[in-house]
Amino acid sequence: MDKNKLENIVSLAKRRGFIFQGSEVYGGISGFYDYGPLGVALKRNVVNLWWKTFVEDAENMFGIDAAIIMNPKVWQASGHVDTFTDPMVECSKCHNRFRADKIDKKTCPNCGAKDSFGEERQFNMMFRTQVGPIDDDNALAYLRPETAQGIFTNYKNVVDTIYPDLPFGLAQVGKAFRNEISPRDFIFRMREFEQMEIEYFVDPENWENEFEEWIKRIHNWLDLIGLNKNKVHELEVEESERAHYSMRTVDFEYDFPIGKEELLGLAYRTDFDLNNIDKKSGKSMEYLVKGTNKKFIPHVIEPSFGLERTIMAVLSEAYTEDEVNGEKRVFLKLPVQLAPVKICVSPLLKNKPELVDKAREVYSELKKKYGAVMWDDNGNIGKRYRRQDEIGTPYCVVIDFDSLEDQSVTIRHRDDTKQERVKISEISKYIKL
Ligand code: GAP
Repeated sequence: MDKNKLENIVSLAKRRGFIFQGSEVYGGISGFYDYGPLGVALKRNVVNLWWKTFVEDAENMFGIDAAIIMNPKVWQASGHVDTFTDPMVECSKCHNRFRADKIDKKTCPNCGAKDSFGEERQFNMMFRTQVGPIDDDNALAYLRPETAQGIFTNYKNVVDTIYPDLPFGLAQVGKAFRNEISPRDFIFRMREFEQMEIEYFVDPENWENEFEEWIKRIHNWLDLIGLNKNKVHELEVEESERAHYSMRTVDFEYDFPIGKEELLGLAYRTDFDLNNIDKKSGKSMEYLVKGTNKKFIPHVIEPSFGLERTIMAVLSEAYTEDEVNGEKRVFLKLPVQLAPVKICVSPLLKNKPELVDKAREVYSELKKKYGAVMWDDNGNIGKRYRRQDEIGTPYCVVIDFDSLEDQSVTIRHRDDTKQERVKISEISKYIKL
C-alpha cells in the first residue's frame, strides 16, 4: 500500500479539476464523487476509446442504452433481490456499521471498542426508490446495481430487429448504484459509479474458447490504456467466491496504490439470465441458428469494466515524479489518446501583442483541427510547462519572436521535456494524436 501516492493523486485530482468529493460544499457525501472539467474529458476519452476498441472496431458488437430504473421483476429474476447482499455488523458502542468480511471483528475500526460487534446480518445493496405518487409496495423500484440486466432484457428486441449471427455482443456504458456499507479509497469503492459492460452471446459448445479470447482482448485493452503488464494479474475466482450467476470468473487485478485489487471481471454467466427471463416472462429467449433447425438459449461471457476503477488505474500508472533542472516535477504520463488536453499553445510573453496575435492564429488552427487544445499565457513559460505536465498535456507549442520571422514554433514534449523547432505549416506532422 502506497498511501502517500494515493494522497498525491487525490490532491492532484482535486487541485487541477479532475475529481471532487460529491456535494463538497455541504460537507460531502460518502461514496459519491463529481468530475470537473479535466475529469470529464479524461472519462470521455476512456469511454470513447473503450467503445471504439470493443464496439466500433468489431463486426459483431452492438450498442444498447437502457433505462436505469427497470421493472422490479428484473431484479427478482436476476437473483439480486435475494442474493445481492454483503454481510454487515454494527458496533454496539459507536453504532458504526462495517462490512463483516473486511474488518477484524475483535476491535471496532472506528472507536476501538473490543468485542462490541453483534450478530452479522445480510444487507441488500440495491438502492430503493418509488415510481409514481403513491408510496406503497407496488411503487417499489430499484436503481440498477449493474448495467448488465438492461442488456439481457433487450436481447430479444435486438435478435428480433437485427438478428445478428452468433457469437455477438451487446455493449452498454452507464451508471450503476450500490449502497456499499463502507465506500472507500477515493473512487475505488463508490455508491454511484459507471460500468462498461458487454454481454457476449455464444453457442454453449464454444464458451471455453470464447472465454480465452476475451482474456486476450482484455489484456490488449489494458495495454492500450497504458497499464504496465507487470502490475496486471489474473485471479481465477474460487467457486465459493463467485457471484451466484457465474460458472467461471477471472478477476483482473491491478497493483493500485491501495494494493492489489480487482480492476474488472470476466464471468461465464451461462444461460442463467436469459433462462430466468424465458421462464419468468413466458417469452422464448431461444436463438434459431440461421439456415438450420438448431435452437437454444445462448450462453453468455461477460467482461465487466468499472469506469472509475479504470480511471484510478490510469491515473496511478500515469502519476510520475522526476527532476528537471534540479527541481522536482510531477507529471501525468497519460497515453496521448486519454490526455484531457492534447496541446497547449502559448505566446512566449503575454504583453507583446505581436506574439499574442501570432499565437492566437496558431491556436485557432490547432483548435479547429484537434479540439482538445488549451490556451495558456499565465505566468512564465517554466510555470506553464509544469502546469501542463501536471494535467498530462503531451505537447506545448510556444510562439516566440523568431516565429514572426521564420514561421516556426517550439514544440515541447511532456515526457522527456525535449524541445524541437518546427514550421507552423508542419506542426501536425510532429503531433501524433
Ligand atoms: N455485471 C457484473 C458485475 O456487475 P461486479 O464484479 O459486481 O460484476 C463489475 O462489477 C465491475 O464494476 C468491478 O470489477 C468494478 O470494476 C466495478 N465496480 C463494482 N462495484 C463497484 C463500486 N462499488 N465502486 C466502483 N466500481 C465498482
